[in-house]
Amino acid sequence: MSTLITNIKQLVQVHEHNTTILKGSEMKTLPVLENAYLYIVNDTIIEYGVMEDCDGIDAETVIDATGRIVLPSWCDSHTHIVYAGDRTSEFVDRINGLSYEDISNKGGGILNSAKVLQETSEEDLFEQSLKRLNQLIAMGTGAVEIKTGYGLTVEAELKMLRVIKRLKQESLATIIPTLLAAHAIPNAYKSKKQDYINLITEELIPQAAALNITHFVDVFCEKGYFDIKDTEAILEAGNKYHLRPKIHVNQFNILGGIALGVKHKALSVDHLEEINDEDIEALKGSETIPVALPGCSYFLSISYTQARKIIDAGLPLAIATDYNPGSSPSGNMNFIVSAACVKLKMTPEEAINAATINGAYAMGISNMYGSITRGKKANIIITKPMNHYSEIPYAFAHDPVEHVIINGQLLK
Ligand code: NIG
Ligand code: FE
Repeated sequence: MSTLITNIKQLVQVHEHNTTILKGSEMKTLPVLENAYLYIVNDTIIEYGVMEDCDGIDAETVIDATGRIVLPSWCDSHTHIVYAGDRTSEFVDRINGLSYEDISNKGGGILNSAKVLQETSEEDLFEQSLKRLNQLIAMGTGAVEIKTGYGLTVEAELKMLRVIKRLKQESLATIIPTLLAAHAIPNAYKSKKQDYINLITEELIPQAAALNITHFVDVFCEKGYFDIKDTEAILEAGNKYHLRPKIHVNQFNILGGIALGVKHKALSVDHLEEINDEDIEALKGSETIPVALPGCSYFLSISYTQARKIIDAGLPLAIATDYNPGSSPSGNMNFIVSAACVKLKMTPEEAINAATINGAYAMGISNMYGSITRGKKANIIITKPMNHYSEIPYAFAHDPVEHVIINGQLLK
């Protein structure tokens, strides 16, 4: 199977050598080839160049991309798309004045989603989740991290993992599963949190690791959820099974979760709506990438991550959707790229870098995804007609995607 895309107005994120992360001022540069072609064989990028050099390439499928932009598919490194039902009524409650915390204190929020998920069959959960996965693929995402975390029992968490495994088997998209082992404290454990932590460390983590579906462990490190001591115990238990941390930190409060993540060699620390100078210092020189989730800030009307403070300190930054029923019910990376520009004050170049190469890094796959590089996987977006890649964030809430190619296959 071979595909040749010709007459590309701008071929974006072209890297001659395999670039796996962009930090600080490196994020300002987005390499572009004007009037270009891209040649794909099976699932791999074989060649690219300017149209004058395109002669003599034969392909089974030829796509004329005149007036269109071609770029690597979005790499969405933080989602919770396996869930059941929705939380529309809580959305209305928030409009009417309740806060996310008020709703959670009333037994809503994550506990609400967990109850519905526990009562939903594995087949039904798969079908509901597949629909969301297909929607986000159509919007240009080619690689996606998917977390558990709405189980809150060993049995329901393992059910979630099996659903993620099936999505991985049945979808062309690249899926990175994460065990969100500690997302909330179930009502039955409210007065005995330590027993729940023990259940996570002694039963859930070993049983989940035995399924060999995931290489990552996550904790919601936050006031009213899991404190630093709890988080450390869970990360240590994960470490015994070679599960690397990718953690929720600094969403509402700064507890020291960033430094803890760095200490435990987290691949990513995500949310960071709140961040201070010590957090920035902790990240310097580490292999941990900060991840901003502007969809969550938008939907909950909370602070936006201070991307400028992070990038201007020389650090890398990725952006992701956080697609989930409670704090960010959208998987549209085009909107996230736009919000990164408008609300996080990132340039279009920085935002696209954060959503491609750096998003791939935050999933541990940037040696194979996130740029137009010979030998990398052919996960590609072909846009609708436009003059410049900056129109993607500029025309916010539009769908800029005309076609997607995932692992070499044309899908839309
Ligand atoms: O990333 N903050 C923790 N977890 C999710 C939201 C969970 C929910 O409200 O269902 C998040 O925002
Ligand atoms: Fe999240």
